[in-house]
Amino acid sequence: MAVFNSVIRFRFVKLSLLVLSVLFAGSLAAQSLDQQIAERLKPIGEVCLAGQACASGGAAPAAQVAAATGEFSAEQVYTQNCAMCHATGMAGAPKFGDADAWSGRIAAKGFETVVKNSITGINAMPAKGMCMTCTDENMTALVEYISGQAQ
Ligand code: HEC
Repeated sequence: MAVFNSVIRFRFVKLSLLVLSVLFAGSLAAQSLDQQIAERLKPIGEVCLAGQACASGGAAPAAQVAAATGEFSAEQVYTQNCAMCHATGMAGAPKFGDADAWSGRIAAKGFETVVKNSITGINAMPAKGMCMTCTDENMTALVEYISGQAQ
């Protein structure tokens, strides 16, 4: 049983990575994979559901561990909530660490306004980048991180 569980966990991690890379790629090809993925996730989901820590806790992704311990990590929230758009520049999102794109915005509006816009949302940018648990301070830290201003 223990061996069975660890095999399942291993497959879950592999599947998580696959699902993540599919999300990141955002390609049309991903759609044809959806059924296969759903099919493969099904029996595994009964053992260890995404979004829940596994019984042994071994396979919980880092972001879930941070959430469980209540610690805020700009890097983890960025990966979870912001990278989808800001890693690729989707819909005109300024790219992660793109100094020119960010310094242009910050110079034009001021850092405070840029942070405020990330909280309220602006054009295709959803309010708080859909990080509903993020506080205003968290958002400030995220904007510092995403724009490459973090020390
Ligand atoms: C659904 C895609 C999407 C997600 C998710 C997203 N953003 Fe954005 N973001 C955008 C787009 C598009 C813009 C450009 C908006 C514009 O200026 O028209 C933007 C702009 C911004 C800006 C600049 C605002 C300004 O006034 O110039 C900040 C700061 C920002 N995002 C932070 C974040 C943070 C932090 C997260 C994660 C918590 C996040 N975004 C998640 C799409 C997204």
